[in-house]
Amino acid sequence: MNQRILVDVAVAAIQAKIGITPAVGVVLGSGLGAFAEELRDAVTVPYTEIPHWPVSTAIGHAGQLVAGYVGDAPVVVLSGRAHLYEGYTAQQATFATRVLHTLGAHSMVFTNAAGGINLSYSQGALVALSDHINLQGTNPLIGHNDDHWGPRFPDMTEAYSLAYRQIARDAAKELGFTLPEGVYAALSGPNYETPAEIRFLRTIGADLVGMSTVPEVIVANHMRMKVLAISCVTNMAAGVLDQKIDHEEVLETGRQVRSRFTSLLKAVLPQLKG
Ligand code: HPA
Repeated sequence: MNQRILVDVAVAAIQAKIGITPAVGVVLGSGLGAFAEELRDAVTVPYTEIPHWPVSTAIGHAGQLVAGYVGDAPVVVLSGRAHLYEGYTAQQATFATRVLHTLGAHSMVFTNAAGGINLSYSQGALVALSDHINLQGTNPLIGHNDDHWGPRFPDMTEAYSLAYRQIARDAAKELGFTLPEGVYAALSGPNYETPAEIRFLRTIGADLVGMSTVPEVIVANHMRMKVLAISCVTNMAAGVLDQKIDHEEVLETGRQVRSRFTSLLKAVLPQLKG
């Protein structure tokens, strides 16, 4: 069925429960869901109550939409996203981004857990994405183009808003830490990479590696939304350190950066004016 019809049904169900029009949509990555508790006048909608919504099965994802305010900014925060490795198509993985745009959001903030390829990063670092490399072998815009949403061949020259990166960098500085920038390589997962794959990714210009975000950023750009994306370096990528990677470590690092991450989002969100 036409995806726009499904999106409109989901939007109507959400609008019936939340009383606000969001300016910004926020997607919280693995282990980073605690930010949703920070919203003022929060209304929570479990994904299971939204028609056609892909329900994430990944551990570390709560599976709910929370609408509320950060300062005076109306936002909708998604705790949990659908990943390709769960078996979702790229279109399903970007359904939520289409919904947030239709709800009225002019901008998106995507967050994720990522492996650090750039040796100047350390575990627990927050990094603003400056660009990405799509190695997922798929694209959410494949197939019929709905001109209502955007053009057949969208530009991706500034997929990650320069102005928003500046806002985030200044906010981090104010909070007492530096926010470096990096290029994010997206793979499908679900296995973590091999050391040879990480050397390849470093050679082609990647600073970070992860299994999400890129389909959503493509769709947000398709709809001309402005994008900010922040990775939490939950672990150094495979082969960088003489140790294995496990998901529990990824979640634990997310918990450790909680207060820095929360302060950064709180400072940045009210400044994103579209
Ligand atoms: N690789 C891919 N995805 C990830 C990683 C990683 O090392 N850490 C967190 N998400």
